[in-house]
Amino acid sequence: MSEAVAPETTETVAGGGDPAVPRHVAIIMDGNGRWAKKKGLPRVAGHREGAEAVRRTLKAAVEAGVECLTLYAFSSENWRRSEEEVTDLKGLMRFYLERELEELAREGVRLRFIGEPSAFGPDLWERLQLAAARTAGNDTLTLNVALNYGSQQELARAAQILAQEVAEGLITPDEITVERLGGVLQTAELPPLDLLIRTSGEVRLSNFLLWQAAYAELVFLDLLWPDFDAQAFKGALGTFAKRQRRFGGR
Ligand code: FPP
Repeated sequence: MSEAVAPETTETVAGGGDPAVPRHVAIIMDGNGRWAKKKGLPRVAGHREGAEAVRRTLKAAVEAGVECLTLYAFSSENWRRSEEEVTDLKGLMRFYLERELEELAREGVRLRFIGEPSAFGPDLWERLQLAAARTAGNDTLTLNVALNYGSQQELARAAQILAQEVAEGLITPDEITVERLGGVLQTAELPPLDLLIRTSGEVRLSNFLLWQAAYAELVFLDLLWPDFDAQAFKGALGTFAKRQRRFGGR
């Protein structure tokens, strides 16, 4: 039986060579609705301002030497929101893509996606694929956007892939190891998750990167996402740098 393993990159270091800098940061961008409500604005205004916070955060992550930034932009459960809000979110993604793609490409950002974004319909799906293809050769930072993503769904899908391999006689059941399962997740080619941040004061993972967060440091902030900025990002990196990571050892 395989044992839980610490990421093999424990001893290796971030892009800039500093072990205090997380290679892979993920963010649950929560609080857009509350931000808007506090200001007496429609929810979409909170999401719009949230997209500006994404720009600021991306810039701060590049400057800090983070290799990969994973953002939870739309969960598998977000379909429960009103049709109007889902349409607004899709519109915002399309707008953001159109406005930012050239700059992302110029800055060397590689855009990719996890989840099942094809559910957003052929128009947006095609734009997302084109944006990913356009930036595929970049290597300053990977911006990995979770769209129609659910971690339980990702794990169920991984189980199906491996079950199929067993059924075809390609592997035996005991060859299903931690490494093999991790290798069929959508994050397989990304660095191990080092730091997971959630804004808005909620303290839960909400079906986000459950497997990948096994050894991540968790930082929960009282800020609402639209108020998140470079200073807050640096603060979270500072908290990470002070944590002692033992990966189950002493
Ligand atoms: C959570 O706040 C936020 C979302 C479900 C959407 C996140 C989307 C963006 C930040 C904008 C677009 C993203 C990109 C990548 C361009 P909430 O609405 O759940 O807030 P609440 O809990 O206060 O209601």
